Amino acid sequence: DGPWAEIGRLDKAAAGRSVLVRAWAQAVYRGSKTKNVAFIELRRGMSTVQCVLAGSAQMMLFALSLPKESIVVVEGAVALLDNPLRYTTVREVEIQVRKLYCISRAAPKLPISVEDAGRSAEEFAKAEAKGVPLPCVGQDTRLDYRVIDLRTAAGQAVFRVQHQVENKFREYLSSKDFISIHTPKLISGSSEGGAAVFKLEYKNGKCACLAQSPQLHKQMAICGGFCRVFEVGSVFRAEDSNTHRHLCEFVGLDAEMEIMRHYFEVCDIVDGLFVELFRHLNENCKTELEAINRQYPFEPVKYLESTLRLSYEEGIQMLKEAGTEIEPMADLNTEAEKKLGQLVREKYDTDFFILYRYPLAARPFYTMPCYDNPAYSNSFDVFLRGEEIISGAQRIHEPELLAKRAAEHGIDKSSIKWYIESFRYGTPPHGGFGAGLERVVMLFCGLNNIRKASCFPRDPQRLSP
Ligand code: 4AD
Repeated sequence: DGPWAEIGRLDKAAAGRSVLVRAWAQAVYRGSKTKNVAFIELRRGMSTVQCVLAGSAQMMLFALSLPKESIVVVEGAVALLDNPLRYTTVREVEIQVRKLYCISRAAPKLPISVEDAGRSAEEFAKAEAKGVPLPCVGQDTRLDYRVIDLRTAAGQAVFRVQHQVENKFREYLSSKDFISIHTPKLISGSSEGGAAVFKLEYKNGKCACLAQSPQLHKQMAICGGFCRVFEVGSVFRAEDSNTHRHLCEFVGLDAEMEIMRHYFEVCDIVDGLFVELFRHLNENCKTELEAINRQYPFEPVKYLESTLRLSYEEGIQMLKEAGTEIEPMADLNTEAEKKLGQLVREKYDTDFFILYRYPLAARPFYTMPCYDNPAYSNSFDVFLRGEEIISGAQRIHEPELLAKRAAEHGIDKSSIKWYIESFRYGTPPHGGFGAGLERVVMLFCGLNNIRKASCFPRDPQRLSP
């Protein structure tokens, strides 16, 4: 298939082929045994290959003058190796270089090295045991030089997993007759209520908010006659939470659907989607998960084929029996969520479960109260490894009740008049859910910080790069 070869596809079968490869030169060095031989390790994505230069002293000098991370093009022959290599992902063959070009010369000294940023947990442990600890690149430095940090195997792997999550979300929902929509990110009022909203100056003296979710418009799409919709899009939260799991901008995976009988129909979609997603990731992202595991060791997610559903009351009862008292009718705090996650794992052997029927007071204004007891709501949260990844609910589709609930939440009705009015023209009962893409990836991969699952994270302290 042409002379351009993908490093990741080079194997025994390619031996003897003449290839052209463009890649990052992650290491260039002189042979230790034979002085007139030099080696270049090339990297592309998560794959690395050894190239050997022999014969031309001029080409060797040129190679040795190349700064690490320069982009080179190599023309050469694929040759079988007697002994498989240990330090490149392509182990059975190498490229014997005939021609070498430099396409983009990197700076002589990079602010962080890919090698340091990508060291495995095992390397750290071994060095520690020998009493010669290795340099460790801190999180902020990594994020300052994110374009270099992303080149590590784990950096590449996380975003390949993210890509699979996003694809599966689209594919699964499309197969269930959802259609993809795009809602505005500039809106006239806050979509989730509360203070966590970015406000900005719009045109003609108007003030606009950056959408905290597609909530209002995804519901309006249902009003507009689409029975099932989903959106993958940016959402903005003016969070003041400097935590491991909050960003000021993240990617929302949202869905909204008509409900025929019960809001558990929404839970059924979440259940089917996530069980399928976990299976898909485990089967199709083996290399990626291994690369992440080498740098940031984690246990695979435990999940059940049919997702456990616990009521909020059952959940707080479990916590109570374990000695954790929850303020009645309040949301669970982070520690209580973690604790419940542990208890559920011990009792049901799963890291993934749905907690439903939350107190109404703990939910946004648009949430449908329970028909049998309006102190509770037709809502749910979904937990992975003891942290929330999804929240969902049935929505109020009666305009009077909706306006009353907005007022009770201190929301200026005039700012969302267009939303409330939409329910006057005939709307079926409906519900939906929203997940945070970065949170799903962070928790599935057992990462300790959401910033690792965002290419260029935005948090209260960080607006660049
Ligand atoms: O729980 P949230 O705020 O719910 C909504 O936005 C609703 N409109 C969803 C619905 O359809 N009912 O956010 C949904 C998810 C959370 O479960 C979490 O995964 C993620 O979005 N999330 C955040 N991720 C990163 N940084 C933040 N600041 C986040 N806030 C919420």
